[in-house]
Amino acid sequence: MRLRDVLFSQGFGTRRHCDALILAGEVSIAGRVCVDPGETVDTRGLVLRVEGQDWPFHAKALLMLHKPAGYECSRKPSAWPSVMSLLPGPLRTRGVQPIGRLDQDTTGLLLLTDDGALIHRLTSPKKHVPKVYEALTADPVTPEQVAELLGGVVLHDDPRPVRATACEATGERSLRLTLTQGKYHQVKRMVAAAGNHVERLHRSRFGALALPDDLTPGQWRWLAGPEDILGPGGG
Ligand code: URA
Repeated sequence: MRLRDVLFSQGFGTRRHCDALILAGEVSIAGRVCVDPGETVDTRGLVLRVEGQDWPFHAKALLMLHKPAGYECSRKPSAWPSVMSLLPGPLRTRGVQPIGRLDQDTTGLLLLTDDGALIHRLTSPKKHVPKVYEALTADPVTPEQVAELLGGVVLHDDPRPVRATACEATGERSLRLTLTQGKYHQVKRMVAAAGNHVERLHRSRFGALALPDDLTPGQWRWLAGPEDILGPGGG
C-alpha cells in the first residue's frame, strides 16, 4: 500500500494533507523518515510515527473506552460533550463510532469501531451478546425485585416482557444485571418497573471483555479484534 494511502486510511486527513505531512518529514517508520508519499509499505505489523506519535496500523479500528459520566455517545451531542472528544483526531476522522450507546450519566465499558458490519453483529438482538451492568439503587434491593428482573418486566414501548439473563444483589443497594438486548434506558426502566430506582449505572463487561482495572475514566485502548469481545471462535 502506498504511504499516502496508509495515512489516509488511518484518518490523517485528505490525501493532500497526508502528502504534506510526508513531505514535511513528519512521518517515519522504524526510525527512518519517509519523504516519498508514493513509497510502498507493508502494513503487517506496521507502526507509523506521525508528528512524534506512534500509530499502529489497523485496517479496521476497534477500541474500548472507559466512559466517564458527563459525556454523550452521540456524534452530535445536544447538552454534553461527545465521547468522541476523548479520542485523538485520526480516530474521529476515520469515522469511529460507539457500538451501542450508554447514557450521559452511565460510566464504564464503551466499544467503538469504524467497522459497520461489526457494529451490526454486536448490536443485533439476534446475537444475544451479554452486557453486564452494576447499578446503585435508591432503595434497598429486595429478593422480589431480583425475581421480577429475572422473570421479566414490561416496559411501556413493548408488550413483551424483557428479562435479565442474570441478576443478583451485590450489596444492600446494588445490583448486577446481565442483559442481551440494548433498549433505550433499559436498565433504568427495568429497575423502575421492578419498583426501585437507579442512581448510578456502570457497565463492567461487554461479551467476553471486562473493563480493565487499569483503564481509568476517559482513557481508551486498542483491541486486537472482535475475538476480544466474542471470545475465541466468535470473531
Ligand atoms: N441501560 C440504561 O438504562 N442506561 C445505559 O446507559 C445502559 C443501559
